[in-house]
Amino acid sequence: MTPPTATTKGAPDLSVTVAGIHLKNPVIAASGTFGYGLEFEDVVHLDRLGGFVIKGLSREPMTGNPPPRLYETTAGMLNAIGLQNIGAEAFLTEKLPKLNQLRNVVVFANVFGYTREDYEHTIQILNEGEGIAAYELNVSCPNTQHGGIQFGSDPRSLDELVTTAKRAAERPLIVKLSPNVTSIAQMAHIAQEAGADAVSLVNTFVAMAIDPETRKPRIANLTAGLSGPAIKPIAVRMVYDAAHSVKIPVIGMGGISTAADIIEFMLAGASAIQIGTASYWDPCATEKIVEELQNYCVEHHIQELSELTGGLIME
Ligand SMILES: Cc1cc2nc3c(=O)[nH]c(=O)nc-3n(C[C@H](O)[C@H](O)[C@H](O)COP(=O)(O)O)c2cc1C
Repeated sequence: MTPPTATTKGAPDLSVTVAGIHLKNPVIAASGTFGYGLEFEDVVHLDRLGGFVIKGLSREPMTGNPPPRLYETTAGMLNAIGLQNIGAEAFLTEKLPKLNQLRNVVVFANVFGYTREDYEHTIQILNEGEGIAAYELNVSCPNTQHGGIQFGSDPRSLDELVTTAKRAAERPLIVKLSPNVTSIAQMAHIAQEAGADAVSLVNTFVAMAIDPETRKPRIANLTAGLSGPAIKPIAVRMVYDAAHSVKIPVIGMGGISTAADIIEFMLAGASAIQIGTASYWDPCATEKIVEELQNYCVEHHIQELSELTGGLIME
């Protein structure tokens, strides 16, 4: 019999469970920063991640916004990609079969729309595909039937949208909250009461930048979403607030780029985390952070990572 190796013997357990889905570790690549996953196959061992969220899918294909659509800021990034994607039908025929050939990976499908019917229809299309673990509902979209205010910024619109999506979804539903609200605790609670199996937060903060030389906006769309380390302390506070107002799991994100960042989000109340902008700076970031997290747990004598969730000490 071979004796256990140093790494297997007493190796920390990084596994977590969110929305009823078991993940080998809490590191999930965030939507819009990891393509359809397949683009990263050559640089990341996808099976080492807890999972990945594919870019937002809509009912019809979308070309997105005109350039410039990305701008690097101090410790962050502005983007106004405009949710460019191939559409739900094409995802099922062109991407999902390839994803299903990968072994041991967990794929989340991010969904968005401009009306409740858009969301419902997109989910119904995706219900037909095999191999999607759960849906993540991006509610940071303007509701065109209600004056363009974001679904996720209006309590009633959020309630109606999540109720509709939950009814349509044949898979667990994660509601990805907008941070552009007065009370994230209230919005998280509304999502829970409307049937969400988990909430994820934060999406990007509405922001803008101007070039003082040309006096023009840095982003053609004028406003854009701010992500990256610049938003991390606000995201941690929002995860803390959300986790204290719901019983369902919270998936935290916003500027995570190290193992210590992950621990911080988990102590604030996150059961799992996502990594977005860090993949722009280093395409291998997600996998590297899993390794870093493993070492962090060994060094800090953390046996069961999931026990850290909500473990903030106040004294
Ligand atoms: C270029 C880019 C595209 C994004 N596209 C989506 C998207 O399609 N759907 C979505 O829910 N979030 C999208 N996001 C938001 C991220 O998934 C994440 O919530 C946000 O960037 C905060 O995490 P980070 O600071 O680690 O990037 C996008 C972010 C970036 C930077």
